[in-house]
Amino acid sequence: SEAHSYSNEEFLQCLASNNSTSDISKVVYTPQNSSYSSVLQFSMKNLRFNTATTPKPVAIITPVDVSQIQAAITCSRKHGLQIRVRSGGHDFEGLSSVSILPFVIVDFINLRSVTVDVENINAWVQSGATLGELYYKIAEKSKTLAFPAGSCPSIGVGGHFSGGGYGPLLRKYGFAVDNIIDAQLVDVNGRILDRSSMGEDLFWAIRGGGGNTFGIVVSWKINLVPVPPTVTVFSVVRVVDDNAAKLVNRWQYVANKLDEHLTIYCFLISVDLNGDGRVEGAALFSALFLGGVDRLLRLVQEKFPEMGLKRENCTEMSWIESILYFAGLPSNTSVDALLNRTSRSKSNVKLKSDYVKEPVPENAWGEIWKRLNQVEIGALVLVPYGGKMSEIPESSTPYPHRAGNLFKVGYVVDWNETDKEASRRHISWIRKLYKYMTPYVSKNPREAYVNYRDLDIGRNNYVGNTSYRKASIWGTKYFKNNFDRLVRVKTEVDPGNFFRNEQSIPPLLT
Ligand code: FDA
Repeated sequence: SEAHSYSNEEFLQCLASNNSTSDISKVVYTPQNSSYSSVLQFSMKNLRFNTATTPKPVAIITPVDVSQIQAAITCSRKHGLQIRVRSGGHDFEGLSSVSILPFVIVDFINLRSVTVDVENINAWVQSGATLGELYYKIAEKSKTLAFPAGSCPSIGVGGHFSGGGYGPLLRKYGFAVDNIIDAQLVDVNGRILDRSSMGEDLFWAIRGGGGNTFGIVVSWKINLVPVPPTVTVFSVVRVVDDNAAKLVNRWQYVANKLDEHLTIYCFLISVDLNGDGRVEGAALFSALFLGGVDRLLRLVQEKFPEMGLKRENCTEMSWIESILYFAGLPSNTSVDALLNRTSRSKSNVKLKSDYVKEPVPENAWGEIWKRLNQVEIGALVLVPYGGKMSEIPESSTPYPHRAGNLFKVGYVVDWNETDKEASRRHISWIRKLYKYMTPYVSKNPREAYVNYRDLDIGRNNYVGNTSYRKASIWGTKYFKNNFDRLVRVKTEVDPGNFFRNEQSIPPLLT
């Protein structure tokens, strides 16, 4: 039934005639529409995919109800268009906003309600809500409930939950996907399914198997988690000359074994501390403790005295205030800032990820800092595992990186120049750093985090079907042994591979 012929007029007519409950024309933007560009760009976070030559969608649909999503699927199939679903638009390879084949964007900007049920300790959240909106709505109802997900408030729930989703609560409560209990999804045939009607295999797959693959997830039911009324945060910076390498080395041994109420992230950065233009390597330890400062100080003194944590490094606050802290917002910022969907700044970004199972030798950190000093904005973000992460079986959700990992590494480089040479230079820098890390990180496969999307590790064919063998190159890095089950689910629910992108699970070819 897929005609593979596109006519703007006929596509729009199809949308209008397939949508009974509301006037869909009000939420469809084509290039002829004056707000097309602003709607396209609003949720596009990475400037690498916002150039004059980047392919643009033939239409953007911003549904206000589920029937409009059904119409978008039916009509895109009929007219041979791809769909790119977009929630917060943070995909690091721009996959929610760009496709080389003719495509439409289904943008969740209007579907972002959050309904918190304090009595039953759960909530329904629509995919278009940002994490900031979700956290705000939880805190509005209760100061002692929270949700374990990412620390950047402008991330969209839809993409984040589709790929895993972690934040500073991971050592106590695992990932976002470990706390999802139901979902509403529209499948390739336009059917509206919930957990019981979609079945446990599909419900398993959508909790971390990657977005834009199994259908369009409209909303998620999540279990909320308890947090104390007072939590404590701290940041400690140590420069290279002050033995930062020794401290990072020690952190590798300690951070994954600490009490699960304490998560200490370690950022390797390059800073100009004195403002004299001379950059030097440094380690920034940034932490969340689910408890008060006295207990925290005792704990760190006992298990990690080398850090020299002092009371003045620590601040007690509520969990929702800790969200502002981890988002890097100034301390007097109102929690209302979490409702602001506009990104503070947009730049060009490239990310890569790794998992570390054996401590990295101390001398490697020095080489990493040398490399960080070569770029203006680059960092390694080390996220400690252990605690709850070691208790959850690898096959419990598609996200497989659990016991046996000391920490996850995120490599990031950021630049503002728009020319191709700057892009080439920064991407080449991060690829070389990644290559340098090869001996120190997981092998066979070299594991990666699907929410830190990286097309360098393998991609599907642009046109035509991608074989199991080709997709397993990137698929086993993201999903390890769970890749096979994801392929089985995909073959079952979308055998024609309608929902696809450069790294979506392919169905088995018949
Ligand atoms: P976007 O809308 O781009 O979607 C991402 C993917 O999911 C795309 O393939 C898209 O088509 C698909 N998709 C979106 N909505 C869907 C829906 N409703 N149904 C089906 N498919 C859908 N991660 C983390 O775990 N912890 C962290 O702390 C951070 N921090 C962070 C900071 C910053 C600044 C960025 C840019 C990113 C992160 N991330 C992160 C990574 C983040 O979790 C990842 O990029 C998410 O996929 C983003 O989700 P969005 O909805 O914003 O993206």
